[in-house]
Amino acid sequence: MASFSFFSFFLLSILLSFSPVLCTNSEGNALHVLRTKLFDPKNVLQSWDPTLVNPCTWFHVTCDSNNHVIRLDLGNSNISGSLGSELGELKHLQYLELYWNNIEGKIPKELGNLKNLVSMDLYGNKFEGEIPKSFSKLKALRFLRLNNNRLSGPIPRELTTLSNLKVFNVSHNNLCGTIPVDGPFGSFPIDSFEDNRLNGPELQGLAAYDFGC
Ligand SMILES: *[C@@H]1O[C@H](CO)[C@@H](O)[C@H](O)[C@H]1NC(C)=O
Ligand SMILES: *[C@@H]1O[C@H](CO)[C@@H](O)[C@H](O)[C@H]1NC(C)=O
Repeated sequence: MASFSFFSFFLLSILLSFSPVLCTNSEGNALHVLRTKLFDPKNVLQSWDPTLVNPCTWFHVTCDSNNHVIRLDLGNSNISGSLGSELGELKHLQYLELYWNNIEGKIPKELGNLKNLVSMDLYGNKFEGEIPKSFSKLKALRFLRLNNNRLSGPIPRELTTLSNLKVFNVSHNNLCGTIPVDGPFGSFPIDSFEDNRLNGPELQGLAAYDFGC
């Protein structure tokens, strides 16, 4: 019996030593998964050590007093690769700053789960595909800058319900259809929309948003 328990303990130790070393913290895990998808020639993610108990000491990551991640600051970092659904797990995130990099692929619809997000800056990358309709769930959002990418399709009408939106920029993409006029869209300047295939403001009462899209 004694030798059996000793043996089980011995086997367990071996198994544990081979299991992947991961953060016990779900937000740290999400960021670690993100890191595996990015190419990082300037090593800006070098301090992202997944064996730490949480990611709050990692460079470019900011936490609140409860050790929840509230900022990700990776603008101008020369990173490439793509984003996945993992970013949707950073439930407390307020600032997602990924501008002026070389990130490609689609914008994950799971970013719509970041209900505390105040600012999403994805401008100056190589994002393609459509602007996710799920962004209409980002009720705290004030700044949404997606300019200078390769986005296509219409501006989702659902975004007109974002009553806190103050700055919206989708200039220099490949968007089509008409520009919404409702809600916060009544006050965005025309240079927020320039250099696309957009058809000018939507006509009153005409649901023409996929016209020419
Ligand atoms: C960052 O990217 C720019 C433009 O692609 C390039 O000129 C520069 O050499 C890169 N810097 C590093 C450190 O990789
Ligand atoms: C949108 O971005 C473009 C390109 O950077 C810039 O020229 C323009 O002033 C911006 N407009 C607004 C309203 O932020």
